[in-house]
Amino acid sequence: MDVAIIRDGEFSVAGVVSIVSQRFRGRVETLDAVFERGSSDAPIQIFCSSLLSNQQVRRVRKALEICGGEKLFVFPKRNAKSISRLKDLGFKDFFAPPVNGNALRSVITKCLNRRTEQSWADLDPATHTALKKSLATFETCFARARRGEPLPMEDIQLSAKYIRHATRLGSFNAWIDALAEHHNYSFRHCMFVAGSLTHFAHAIGLPGPDIQQLATGGLVHDIGKSAIPLRILDKTGKLSGAEWQLIRKHPTLSGQILRRGNALDAGTISAALDHHEKLDGTGYPNGLSGAEISDCARLTAIADVYSALIDIRPYRATMSSRQALDLMATFEGHLDMRLFDAFRDFASEAR
Ligand SMILES: [Fe+2]
Ligand SMILES: [Fe+2]
Repeated sequence: MDVAIIRDGEFSVAGVVSIVSQRFRGRVETLDAVFERGSSDAPIQIFCSSLLSNQQVRRVRKALEICGGEKLFVFPKRNAKSISRLKDLGFKDFFAPPVNGNALRSVITKCLNRRTEQSWADLDPATHTALKKSLATFETCFARARRGEPLPMEDIQLSAKYIRHATRLGSFNAWIDALAEHHNYSFRHCMFVAGSLTHFAHAIGLPGPDIQQLATGGLVHDIGKSAIPLRILDKTGKLSGAEWQLIRKHPTLSGQILRRGNALDAGTISAALDHHEKLDGTGYPNGLSGAEISDCARLTAIADVYSALIDIRPYRATMSSRQALDLMATFEGHLDMRLFDAFRDFASEAR
């Protein structure tokens, strides 16, 4: 549960529910239910009240005191009296109709991410360092790629080194769990992929330079998505033909960005460029087949599919590791089944 929408009175919160549920797991509860339980267990609480009567102000004040999460406020109607009363309750910001869905989702995302990033301090120091450094690197990479600037190579290599180190010492489960509640989807996905690749590589005893290469590839394999609008990347409904065509360009864009004035090895670039290719030639962007697809890209494809399947998405049921592996076992012609069998042994044991 990410967000509790706490309603005071009878007015409809359907608009807020619709905005929230597009990206988060939300629940509506009443102020009375919160009083009964003595709190609300959601990390983010969105209070919805008009604050027009003294009784409403008293009730909301009491709820604010007993609820421990990050708090946001939505009015059913914009009203000067309500706004002044909200300021007295210590709120500077609020939402009122027409509520800007993107703005509300962006505030919720920031609040949730802040909590998740703070929780990393409780992890082992190597994992904490790897996650913190990789997040900073990832954000810089996306920002620079959008501006057409070269990527921060030293930061990428240092992050990959930290990932390599942390995944040698820590457990795969802890890695996935630490990232599962981060709401920068591209970051979470790339770190799932980097963690899957490096944990697997440690488990089968690959040498350090190979693991470093896989960590680097995992971290930057979807950098081409920086050129695709978030409204398409985060879209929960069916993609239009044009949107799907744009998404399918991301491996080519990744290759272009990684080659732009940088010094990445061919394996890392092929991981980014070819991780959606399929052995039978039906993949994209270039329809490569068989030996045209490098081992690095084959492994990244396996980690990529696995990471996408076990990820938590608000619009579909979560798949367990076992369900994901069982499904992937049917992907003959797509994945390298020899590598997949080894990955399956590792992942079944680890998670
Ligand atoms: Fe991709
Ligand atoms: Fe990916």
